[in-house]
Order: sequence, then structure tokens, then C-alpha cells
Amino acid sequence: MRTIERLRSNSLLSAEISKLESRLWRQCRRDDVKTVLVTSAVRGEGKSTTISYLATAMGLFPGRKILAMDFDLRVPSLNREFEVDIEHGIEEVLAGKIELKAAIVRTTLAGLDIVVPSTKGDPELLHQTEPLRRCFSYAREHYDLVLIDTPAVIPVADATAVMPFADGVVLVAMAGKTTEPYLRRALTICDGLDARVLGLVVSNVHEAAPEYLIGDGNYYYE
Ligand SMILES: Nc1ncnc2c1ncn2[C@@H]1O[C@H](COP(=O)(O)OP(=O)(O)O)[C@@H](O)[C@H]1O
Ligand SMILES: [Mg+2]
Repeated sequence: MRTIERLRSNSLLSAEISKLESRLWRQCRRDDVKTVLVTSAVRGEGKSTTISYLATAMGLFPGRKILAMDFDLRVPSLNREFEVDIEHGIEEVLAGKIELKAAIVRTTLAGLDIVVPSTKGDPELLHQTEPLRRCFSYAREHYDLVLIDTPAVIPVADATAVMPFADGVVLVAMAGKTTEPYLRRALTICDGLDARVLGLVVSNVHEAAPEYLIGDGNYYYE
């Protein structure tokens, strides 16, 4: 598993992810948040990377039940991170052909399951509300925390179609890349849907903005 190997070999990264994981976990328990949608303003800001690390860090706790769902049908990436064999993809769940349970795949971590697309899928599937509603209902009932990967909110409407089903939203911004107007626009889009924005993860802090670094890692969660 590539993510866990990177965490084990990089103590600074591991420490930042651990801080991020514990803050998000405590916040979700306190506020009764179970389904967390992760998105960003534009593409390539570190959403999938952040989810992979967070899901891995959370899944290392054997008592927890964590589900990571990859709803990015345009650029699926969690399947690559967790190197699992996929029999049924999330696109079949979204098309109403199968229930979520049939598409859930176990990872090598006791506490972590994932659901991913088996191939690039039609993003229009995210606009069919009944399969989404059933999917979230099952996930909420069977897991302690569900992390949801989605495309960016400014260029496409995929994440905004899913947002009303999630309890909270975490935004990811990349230091040195995400501009303030784009981040504000992303927040406005979330506000327009009455989404509960739980926090902002800033990735790439170590490379692009070391003056903001708390500790020495690559993430900063505010
Ligand atoms: N914290 C980080 N520090 C440095 N580079 C990062 C970080 N997170 C992601 N990246 C790099 O940025 C690129 C996009 O990351 P990815 O997670 O796929 O973004 P997204 O899912 O938002 O499109 C990848 O090449 C990834 O390796
Ligand atoms: Mg991604």
C-alpha cells in the first residue's frame, strides 16, 4: 500500500497527517458528522492525496470503521492508492444497478473499506438522487466516518450534486497554487448549498509557504 509506506517512511508527513486526522475525527464525533465530502476549487490541489492519507491514518485504529468513497468519476484515484481488485464499481451503485454493500472492498487495514469506480464513469450518474440517498443511508448506518472524494467545485457540478447528502465539507487548497478568489468562489458555492464547511486543508505548505508551517510537515488544517 503506497500511502502507508509513505507515512511510515516520512515522520514529518506522518505527524502532520496524525494531527489532521485527530482534529477531524474529534470534530466529527463532537458535531455528529459522519459523512465528509472533500473538494477544492480547481483540479490538482491534493484532494485525493489528502483522503488517502486521512483514510489510512484513521483506518489504522482497529476499533474504527472508516469508508472512503471515490465519487470522482472523471479522474478516479483511490483505486490506485489502495491497489484493490474491483468487482463492482461505484458507477453501478449510482446507476441503481446494485446496492452500495456489493461494491464495498476491504483494504489491508482492519478499519478501512473503500468504494471506487471500476473505470471512468459518466458524471451524470451523480445527478440521480435516489441511488445517492440509499448509498449515503447505508454508509451512515454501517460506518463511523465516511470520506468522500469528488472533483473540484468550480469547473464541474459533480461535487455540488453530492454535497446535499453529506454532513460536512472539507476544502483542500494547495499552497502556491490555489488563488484567494478561487478559494472564495469555492466557499460561496458551498454556502449556496447550505453546506457545513468543517475546515480547510492546505497542502504543499512545506514546499510553497514554509512560513505558515506548524511543525514541519506538508499539511495544515484550519
Ligand atoms: N501535500 C502535498 N504536497 C505536495 N504535493 C502534493 C500534495 N498533495 C498532493 N500533491 C501532488 O499534487 C498532485 C495532485 O494531487 P491529487 O491528490 O491527485 O489532487 P486532486 O485530487 O485534488 O486532483 C499530485 O501530483 C500529488 O502528488
Ligand atoms: Mg483527485
